[in-house]
Amino acid sequence: MDQTAWAERVRAQMDYEWSRKGPPEGFPSLPPLPTGRYTDPAFYALEREHLWKKAWLLAGRDEDLPEPGSYRTFDRTGSPLLIVRGRDGLLRGFFNTCQHRGAPVVRETCGAAQRLRCQYHSWTYDLDGTLLQVPDRRDFTELDMSQRALKPVRCEVYEGWVFVNEDSGAPPLREWLGPIAAEWSPLRGADLRAHGTRCERIPANWKTVADAFLETYHVRTIHPQTVAKLLDHRGAAMGLFAYGHSRMVTPKWEKAIEEQRAREGPFPEIPDLDPLYSETNPAYSLFPNLITPLDTIGFPFIRFWPIDVETTDVEWTFYGPPAETRSVEQAWEVYIKIFDEVMEEDFMNLAPMQRSVASGALESIPLSYQERRIYHLHEEIDRVIGRDRIPETLQVSPRLEPFWERG
Ligand code: FES
Ligand SMILES: [Fe+2]
Repeated sequence: MDQTAWAERVRAQMDYEWSRKGPPEGFPSLPPLPTGRYTDPAFYALEREHLWKKAWLLAGRDEDLPEPGSYRTFDRTGSPLLIVRGRDGLLRGFFNTCQHRGAPVVRETCGAAQRLRCQYHSWTYDLDGTLLQVPDRRDFTELDMSQRALKPVRCEVYEGWVFVNEDSGAPPLREWLGPIAAEWSPLRGADLRAHGTRCERIPANWKTVADAFLETYHVRTIHPQTVAKLLDHRGAAMGLFAYGHSRMVTPKWEKAIEEQRAREGPFPEIPDLDPLYSETNPAYSLFPNLITPLDTIGFPFIRFWPIDVETTDVEWTFYGPPAETRSVEQAWEVYIKIFDEVMEEDFMNLAPMQRSVASGALESIPLSYQERRIYHLHEEIDRVIGRDRIPETLQVSPRLEPFWERG
């Protein structure tokens, strides 16, 4: 991708956002979101069935599965999934489900094995899922072993990030990423390494949590001593993409940029990034549950995992160039602690907001032009569930497709 052309386009958008007196000409007013979307068990069941089982979900990193036979389980969406590196070096996804009577073929969350042997009756599978051995084979008179391979799950890798998707008909990962695949290429994701993971359980619907990361309208009030000192939300330039993804580039204050330049930290930076990366906060949302505010030293990938209709695990992992020295590792530890404070500021409101919507005190949620990424997320949720499955009172009416950026 031509980074400079991209950066120029984004700068022009930021200039426009600063100067505008209201929403742009022709921008629709967005119908309020029905709050039942955050509380109704039937809507949650629709999401479980049609969203989480059909979405590309970030499940791990390529380097966490280093050898042929390395495996990891992944059960964040309720289905027992398994990712295995084959003898050909390729990663494959399966259900961790023996095709005899359904026991798991691996029990550890990660490990290495040359064969996948079910611990119930020892049916044994090759790393590519082929059923190799059935003890007492003579007693299964009708068994066609070729029809009893492990059930596959889509598994594709982008720049070291491993995604899975239970929907065999889903578009290829790259196609689904759309313009983001090219926009992220300067980050050299395959060279980055994890520097720490946090997880926190929040008593709120996963969308209450996700919405909180899709706008900077709240920055001055919720983050007065942290993010507000860094970012000028009035210049936030947003892009909406197909498949529910979006981008928001928020300019930093001049003073913050200068302070940042003067600082000589121990962090190695991702090389050759356009200066836009240090002058702004380019944040992305990958549908449905991944948010990342990018930075030159590295960045967190923040993911939201529903536990039930009003409980969500927020899991965030920091990626950056490999830490060569102890001082870099220590710097990451400090950085992650500072980030914890920002996250706590964001989390503070979520449980009370969930209680409010559950009480019926708020019937619907009016969204402004600045909050259009939230509306875009909700539009896509309805699109993937299928509008005809959703009770009319809970639907979101599509408005934003004419405003998508097409790469
Ligand atoms: S359930 Fe796996 S061998 Fe019987
Ligand atoms: Fe925030």
